[in-house]
Amino acid sequence: MKCKVLALLRSQQGPVSGEEISLQLGVSRTAVWKHIQTLKEEGYEIISQPGTGYLLKEVPDLLLPGELAYFLSDSIFGQNIEYYRTLQSTNEQAKAAADQGAPEGTLVVAESQEEGKGRLGRQWFSPEGSGIYATVVLRPPLKPEQAPGFTLMAAAALAQAVQQVTGMAPGIKWPNDLLLAGKKFCGILTEMKAEMDRIHYLVIGTGINVNMDPQLFPAEFRDTATSIKKELGQEVSRIRLLSAYLKSMETLYRIYLEQGLSPIIEEWKAWSITLGQSVTLTSGHEVFRGRAIDIAGNGGLVVLGDNGEQKIFHSGEVTLRNK
Ligand code: BTN
Repeated sequence: MKCKVLALLRSQQGPVSGEEISLQLGVSRTAVWKHIQTLKEEGYEIISQPGTGYLLKEVPDLLLPGELAYFLSDSIFGQNIEYYRTLQSTNEQAKAAADQGAPEGTLVVAESQEEGKGRLGRQWFSPEGSGIYATVVLRPPLKPEQAPGFTLMAAAALAQAVQQVTGMAPGIKWPNDLLLAGKKFCGILTEMKAEMDRIHYLVIGTGINVNMDPQLFPAEFRDTATSIKKELGQEVSRIRLLSAYLKSMETLYRIYLEQGLSPIIEEWKAWSITLGQSVTLTSGHEVFRGRAIDIAGNGGLVVLGDNGEQKIFHSGEVTLRNK
């Protein structure tokens, strides 16, 4: 109901009375007043004018469910949103929610993370208000060996969304790092609960450096990381970017379930900056040098080694070598 009150305020050019809102939404005026108070507490600037009514003046720069709902009204993803000012990790919270039965498309989003998790046990720098830290719960009726495809799917969806919102075309470094000007601005961490022949759920967590100033990054990332703001030269609406990403992901998810991984791989390849490149692939203790030549049918990276041996990798870290 709070979201409906907000939507009604948004749709008005001028002030709207409490009575009008209560009539249109079929709730009491007291309930309307309470929802308005909650919206104000969340940071919406709503002017209450005696005699004329309520006027929405300013929307906060926060990833609030009411804001996301506005952009995602015809989507399934994001219909159920858990919003936090801060969390340890949106992936951890999404797994807890999924264990409790959270439906497919549930979104867990936070303004900051205290222990944001990266791939391969790393940390994800998650300061307040300038990045996107969001995790989606999926329940695909598939087998665990098909899970890596969802990581490629998420990376392709994000590349589409970034181009749509910023006009810049990012590159994807296998499996799912997004780069602008050769530096990483986004990472995806997919985690899964499964039995041998069935996925229970997947959580796809995405961290995006949106409006950060890279000088504020921890020293160890400063040379290799960037943000959208840095590369674009201006700030970007996090709400627009996150909702565009969720919409793209929903479309690609349907395609994956209906047509299999091939069309997802084709979309991924359109954004790839890995294929055709000389790479060093580090997987566990193995360091393999060669040329990335293709994506296998299950999403693995096919590398033709400098020693002539061809290998398919399903996990690991790619370093692009400029030869
Ligand atoms: C990477 O190492 O590239 C993956 C980074 C993934 C970070 C995101 S932020 C939202 C979600 N919650 C987490 O704890 N991690 C992911």
